[in-house]
Amino acid sequence: MKTVKYVVSLAAGLLLLASAAFAADPAAPAAKQTPQLTSADCVKCHAKPPADVDAKGKAHKTKVTCQDCHQGHPPTVKKIIPLCGQCHEGKPHFKLGGCLGCHRNPHTPKEIVFGRDVTEPCLTCHNPQIAQLKQFPSKHSKLNCSFCHDVHGKIPQCTQCHKPHSAEQNAGDCKKCHKAHQPKNVAYAGDTPSKQCGACHSKALNLLTASKAKHKSLLCVTCHQEKHKMVPKCQDCHGVPHAAGIMSKFPKCGDCHGIAHDLNNWKAAAPAAAPAAAPAAAPKTPAHKKK
Ligand code: HEC
Ligand code: HEC
Ligand code: HEC
Ligand code: HEC
Ligand code: HEC
Ligand code: HEC
Ligand code: HEC
Ligand code: HEC
Ligand code: HEC
Ligand code: HEC
Ligand code: HEC
Ligand code: HEC
Repeated sequence: MKTVKYVVSLAAGLLLLASAAFAADPAAPAAKQTPQLTSADCVKCHAKPPADVDAKGKAHKTKVTCQDCHQGHPPTVKKIIPLCGQCHEGKPHFKLGGCLGCHRNPHTPKEIVFGRDVTEPCLTCHNPQIAQLKQFPSKHSKLNCSFCHDVHGKIPQCTQCHKPHSAEQNAGDCKKCHKAHQPKNVAYAGDTPSKQCGACHSKALNLLTASKAKHKSLLCVTCHQEKHKMVPKCQDCHGVPHAAGIMSKFPKCGDCHGIAHDLNNWKAAAPAAAPAAAPAAAPKTPAHKKK
């Protein structure tokens, strides 16, 4: 009973609106014609959809009208809610179900909301990231994309979920050594400051800092290049520094020079003990070899 009355008054309302539009238009033909509802009329009875479209309709404001999507109107036409697939087809993304699960409001299509357990739908548009996560397995590979990217397009800070290695490190430093989609594949740029390494290798940093030899002025990464745990050979930089005879007798540089972080410093420590004309007079057992 109630519904019938409602429908009748709605139909009358729509008619009234339409005839008012005709009356206001002097160019309208006087002949009898089915009154037409236009997209401009909708706002007279529906407040929110037009306001949403106006503010954030994006392409649904500029490329289509209300009536491209809603063809007809109750009670004359009963089903006037369109399917997304009427207009969107031909891409893997459009084969996903539940469009309104993420595009919650068709009148604001770019306002996208999703839970923290989404991966597959992201792959309809993004590929390199999953490829990296699979190629370099880590605990990140087991997380869903949206566990980290909880809002579309948002890039999280590592420090949202992890503590830095030292108090001196901040969120911007993480990327010097880590990439999010391959976090265990630690690699670093040639200008990474030594104190970043010192966060875990305090012994090496302290030795090098205290040393008087020229290696002191080099960055850790000048010697340990690019990839974590790379260890250089002295000859990579120094070639063959001494006569062939000496080199074959004492194949290890360290026998005379100590370790790279703390080279023996004959000149400063005990000049008298240094061979007069090294390497020709190099000692059999270096007097100041450090352990
Ligand atoms: C005179 C007031 C009036 C005007 C003008 C009007 N509507 Fe409606 N509309 C209603 C009412 C009332 C309902 C609820 C009808 C029902 O549920 O049977 C409704 C329902 C709807 C629905 C929901 C249908 C459903 O299946 O849930 C849509 C969509 C809609 N209108 C779109 C439009 C569009 C688009 C326009 C402009 C082209 C428009 N309306 C103009 C009053 C109006
Ligand atoms: C791109 C297609 C599209 C356009 C353009 C569009 N709509 Fe809709 N509209 C929909 C869909 C889909 C739904 C159903 C939403 C749902 O099920 O949550 C809907 C729902 C509605 C409803 C009923 C639910 C509600 O939110 O009140 C009304 C009324 C409505 N639209 C009016 C309009 C008006 C007025 C315009 C123009 C300003 C418009 N729509 C533009 C697709 C569209
Ligand atoms: C009547 C046709 C039509 C329907 C129905 C329709 N759309 Fe669209 N939509 C378009 C057009 C046209 C564009 C702009 C061109 C394009 O991106 O394909 C568009 C663009 C979009 C955009 C991008 C907006 C932007 O500004 O970049 C999204 C997101 C979108 N639609 C989602 C949806 C969803 C979700 C549905 C179903 C609820 C839907 N559309 C239903 C016609 C439609
Ligand atoms: C898991 C969430 C999710 C689901 C489900 C989803 N979308 Fe999307 N959609 C997105 C995201 C995220 C974007 C990217 C928005 C951007 O470009 O900023 C997008 C973009 C779009 C675009 C604009 C870009 C383009 O490729 O044209 C359209 C149109 C679209 N979606 C339609 C749909 C349709 C139709 C469905 C259902 C078949 C759907 N979406 C299901 C999340 C989703
Ligand atoms: C319909 C295609 C589509 C879908 C689905 C989609 N995206 Fe996007 N995404 C885009 C586009 C387009 C951009 C903007 C690209 C740009 O700015 O270079 C973007 C940007 C991003 C960005 C920011 C990129 C940057 O360089 O700042 C992130 C992060 C992102 N998307 C993650 C996701 C995640 C996570 C999902 C799944 C929940 C997802 N996207 C689903 C199309 C999509
Ligand atoms: C552990 C958190 C985390 C997970 C899981 C994650 N990302 Fe990211 N993503 C990030 C961070 C952080 C960045 C910023 C770049 C960086 O630090 O390497 C990023 C960057 C991006 C970008 C920008 C372009 C680029 O590659 O740098 C896109 C697109 C993106 N992620 C998509 C995805 C997709 C798709 C997935 C799931 C397959 C995913 N992400 C999983 C944290 C994550
Ligand atoms: C949204 C939270 C989140 C963000 C953002 C995030 N991670 Fe993680 N990360 C995790 C979780 C959860 C684990 C697994 C922890 C566990 O199981 O102990 C993890 C593990 C790791 C691991 C150890 C991997 C393994 O397999 O042992 C590294 C390294 C790591 N993260 C580095 C980073 C870096 C670097 C960033 C920024 C580029 C980052 N994470 C951003 C949540 C996050
Ligand atoms: C100077 C390079 C460097 C920087 C900068 C760096 N890390 Fe690391 N990180 C590493 C190395 C190397 C490992 C692996 C140690 C191993 O093999 O056990 C690691 C391991 C991790 C792990 C795995 C668990 C652990 O503690 O061993 C997490 C999580 C992590 N880093 C997060 C971060 C975050 C967050 C930042 C930024 C605040 C950051 N890292 C900055 C080099 C770096
Ligand atoms: C998060 C802590 C962490 C950071 C930061 C870190 N390392 Fe390491 N590093 C380790 C661990 C753990 C090992 C393995 C130690 C072991 O196997 O005894 C290691 C091992 C090494 C090794 C030895 C490889 C070998 O064969 O013995 C070198 C060289 C090295 N790291 C250099 C660096 C350099 C250079 C940096 C700065 C760019 C750095 N590390 C930053 C934790 C870290
Ligand atoms: C990445 C390149 C590199 C590597 C690897 C390297 N060095 Fe050096 N070394 C240098 C540079 C640069 C200097 C300073 C040269 C200068 O200023 O004249 C230097 C200086 C020295 C000096 C002179 C020290 C002084 O204070 O006068 C000795 C001795 C030396 N290196 C021995 C070694 C030994 C032994 C190793 C291996 C344990 C080694 N180097 C590994 C680059 C390197
Ligand atoms: C001049 C080149 C050079 C510089 C600078 C350098 N290293 Fe080394 N490092 C080496 C060489 C060569 C070795 C192999 C052991 C040796 O011969 O002394 C080594 C060994 C190591 C090792 C494994 C053995 C150990 O001592 O624990 C670690 C860890 C390490 N370096 C970290 C660092 C860090 C951190 C820095 C910066 C504070 C640094 N190194 C600076 C050349 C260098
Ligand atoms: C038998 C001992 C001995 C061995 C083995 C040895 N050196 Fe030396 N080296 C010396 C002495 C002694 C000096 C001169 C010290 C000085 O003047 O400070 C010297 C000087 C150097 C210098 C500095 C030259 C300069 O112009 O200041 C470099 C670089 C060097 N050695 C590299 C190496 C490398 C690399 C190896 C291994 C391939 C090596 N040495 C093996 C004893 C040795």
